[in-house]
Amino acid sequence: MSKFGVLALACLMFWSCGTDNGTAENETENENSITMINTETINGKEVKTFELKNKNGTTIHITNYGAIVTKMLVADKEGNLENIVLGFDSVSEYQQNGYYFGATAGRYANRIAKGRFSIDGEAFQLTTNDGQNHLHGGNEGFNEVVWEAESFEDNSGVGVRMVYVSPDGEEGYPGELTTTATFSLDDNDVLTILYEASTDKATIVNITHHGYFNLSAMKEDILNHELTIYGDHYTPVDETLIPTGDIVEVNNTPFDFTSAHKIGERIAQVEGGYDHNYVITKEYTGDLKKQAELYHSGSGRLLEVHSDAPGVQFYSGNFLDGAQGTDGNTYNKHTGLCLEPQFFPDSPNQPNFPSASLKPGETYSHRIELHFKTR
Ligand code: BGC
Repeated sequence: MSKFGVLALACLMFWSCGTDNGTAENETENENSITMINTETINGKEVKTFELKNKNGTTIHITNYGAIVTKMLVADKEGNLENIVLGFDSVSEYQQNGYYFGATAGRYANRIAKGRFSIDGEAFQLTTNDGQNHLHGGNEGFNEVVWEAESFEDNSGVGVRMVYVSPDGEEGYPGELTTTATFSLDDNDVLTILYEASTDKATIVNITHHGYFNLSAMKEDILNHELTIYGDHYTPVDETLIPTGDIVEVNNTPFDFTSAHKIGERIAQVEGGYDHNYVITKEYTGDLKKQAELYHSGSGRLLEVHSDAPGVQFYSGNFLDGAQGTDGNTYNKHTGLCLEPQFFPDSPNQPNFPSASLKPGETYSHRIELHFKTR
């Protein structure tokens, strides 16, 4: 047999000749890493993008502009790493668009009716940036400010810690609020996001991660994704998406995701599409719970959302309208969906909802875990 023939036979026997052995090599050689992949100056402040990578190759990009997660490269069932979140290539595109892609939403994520609330009889008026209502912290929320950032490495993995000090009165909120957002990735493919805040005056706080997921890596829309939400009640809304104050059972309605359903199955029965808060616990306990599970059978990717917040907003990307994003993708209606752990919308005006108030001396703490798996 010729030398070439022997090589070909050996290749067949081991099946792993050529590029196929790349995966095995990566498995043994990959280490955790944090790399700064880009810096630019915005309003005189340094904006950096960090790349967190674990030994499986799972890769998260985070910028300190808005504490935004810009990319999540996650394996499908064949081991292919692809980006599963909507985003943009440049900070200026995040500045121009109001979708809150991958953003840290705060001080108060979601809506506050007419931007009004009171604490101990004192009335406050927030900026109104969503018709007559206040949404996701106002005109310049946490997603549009530059955070101080530093990377770290510890026993559990690699991460970035960011701090933003919001002045008293910013967007109408009382109290100087110091917020820390810590993002860390471990070798079990869990991205943990911890938001902590303290104030010098009584105020309200509700901070969340506003990622838009598409587990097919944008190859199709999210209507075939299967969703489970571990909450058997939801908070119905009026025509401006403010809760009516009722807490209603999902049983026998198109809102029932207590067992897995394709998102497209009943979406036509929900006017405008899903954009609703699900009640995980009516009484806030502060315990970490699995809130939701999202599965895409084509890729085998599965995402679990865990949080210690009492609610989760399921938003089916109804207002996406053709923006051009990362990797040349076009983001149309239902290209991505959000699962945003949170206090219920408009809690400061709804006495029967868990309270989002924060007083001096207390620490607001919200932990979110995104578990990436395949099935
Ligand atoms: C809200 C949507 C809103 C979107 C903005 C979601 O959290 O529920 O109503 O349009 O954020 O991007």
